[in-house]
Amino acid sequence: MPENDPMAVDPIQPTLLVTSETPSPALDTLPEACSACRRCALAETRHQVVISRGNPRARLMVIGEGPGAQEDASGLPFVGRAGQLLDQMLLSVGLDSNRDAYIGNVVKCRPPDNRKPTAEEMASCLPWLESQIAAVDPAVILLAGATAMEGLLGVKGGITKLRGQWRQGSGTVLGGRWLMPVFHPSYLLRNPSRQQGSPKWHTWQDLQEVRRRLDQLANGPEIPAGEPSAERGL
Ligand code: URA
Repeated sequence: MPENDPMAVDPIQPTLLVTSETPSPALDTLPEACSACRRCALAETRHQVVISRGNPRARLMVIGEGPGAQEDASGLPFVGRAGQLLDQMLLSVGLDSNRDAYIGNVVKCRPPDNRKPTAEEMASCLPWLESQIAAVDPAVILLAGATAMEGLLGVKGGITKLRGQWRQGSGTVLGGRWLMPVFHPSYLLRNPSRQQGSPKWHTWQDLQEVRRRLDQLANGPEIPAGEPSAERGL
């Protein structure tokens, strides 16, 4: 991420990026309930269920694919190299990953050899993720990578085309929320160029857009319903 970039957004008061509400007690019961989960075969090979890190009162939720080796060992999402890059990228737009975001994954157990979770595994885990979304009640959801798009929205492939475009959630759990697909940090680790037009550069533009949206939502007025050109409803 560009450092000291004149376009970088100034950090703002953390209170504007979190809700004043107490998170739902549903989150308290998740660790025990998820640890007992045997809905799919990933339960057989996991060391730990990986539920979340960050602030359950944050207005921003980040959803990734699934735990890797370090997450499986620590029980926390996005703590390996991809997680460190995610933290840096969020910080480049003035967001502290543990203070200003609540972070989870489409699946809570590590797929062996870091393979992509299957459609069945994602579907088995979806009720847990939906209960997290409902409890945290984020205004904005960052979908990190194609698997997050597929697992949460059922939209397959094409992250290169879909990234950077706002989607408005619909239905009981996603209704009223803004969703932004971005490249997965692991992909950015493999494509480290910061040149204009590179995946990393695009991601930085996307995160600045997320930051703008959070600021608008915090400061009001409400963004009118409707679909500006770069925004697509679900
Ligand atoms: N990649 C993810 O998608 N999630 C993690 O928790 C770690 C790496």
